[in-house]
Amino acid sequence: MDTSASILVTGAAGHLGTSVVHELHQLGYQVLATLGSQKNTGIFDHLERVTSHVVDLLDPAGVASFIDTVRPKAPRAAVLLVGGFTAGGFAETSVDDLENMFRLNFLTAYNVVQPLLPIFDAQGGGQFILVGARPALLPDAGKDLVAYSLSKSLVFELASLINAYGQGKSIAASVIVPSIIDTPVNRKAMPDADPATWVTPEAVSKTIAFVLSEAGQMMHEPILKLYNQS
Ligand SMILES: NC(=O)c1ccc[n+]([C@@H]2O[C@H](COP(=O)([O-])OP(=O)(O)OC[C@H]3O[C@@H](n4cnc5c(N)ncnc54)[C@H](OP(=O)(O)O)[C@@H]3O)[C@@H](O)[C@H]2O)c1
Repeated sequence: MDTSASILVTGAAGHLGTSVVHELHQLGYQVLATLGSQKNTGIFDHLERVTSHVVDLLDPAGVASFIDTVRPKAPRAAVLLVGGFTAGGFAETSVDDLENMFRLNFLTAYNVVQPLLPIFDAQGGGQFILVGARPALLPDAGKDLVAYSLSKSLVFELASLINAYGQGKSIAASVIVPSIIDTPVNRKAMPDADPATWVTPEAVSKTIAFVLSEAGQMMHEPILKLYNQS
């Protein structure tokens, strides 16, 4: 595994992001971690190969300028973890809900993909790892989570378009699909559920590390469903 290259991780201060940063750092990677706000500045100061950058991923110009600053670090992959959730079927889903989910789940990824693609082109390749969601693949579940499912369905489409663009250029996208991640937020929201049936952030992080590995790079357009027993 070439761990001398750097890996960009967005949403690094989130529940999944923190675990991913620790996993990649422990494997020896240089990690370029983006934070959504100043409040988490310093959380990775004890990790010598992690640099943290506060970047609003909804600001395309700001993201492009950030990507330009990390170009000399030759990022060879981007793990795009920013995203969020909202419940609601058709009756409860407003245009505002649709737009908010579109921005949080899709634009935060697109705004990184767009300026990184020319860098991957120039470097001769690169990987994107995106996070989808099961309701975007299962209409029976998605019909009660309309804004969330529609926004996450675009993540799968984005991966397909990247893979079409990247054919023959060693540029590829993978989608990780966790069911419910075992986070404090989910434990609080679902006090009667059994978290042992969920997926741990560590399991998702190890899967992401595998996708980044030499063996993982052999996979073709993977959509990796991490559902455990939920
Ligand atoms: N949790 C689950 O059960 C579950 C299930 C399936 C899929 N997923 C997906 O997995 C991914 C990670 O989930 P998570 O639970 O770890 O989420 P999380 O804890 O809410 O973390 C999301 C992170 O995104 C950052 N962020 C939000 N808006 C941003 C913006 N405009 N610019 C830059 N950063 C921004 C936040 O930073 P600040 O806090 O600093 O704003 C936060 O640290 C998401 O894509 C989610 O949809 C989660």
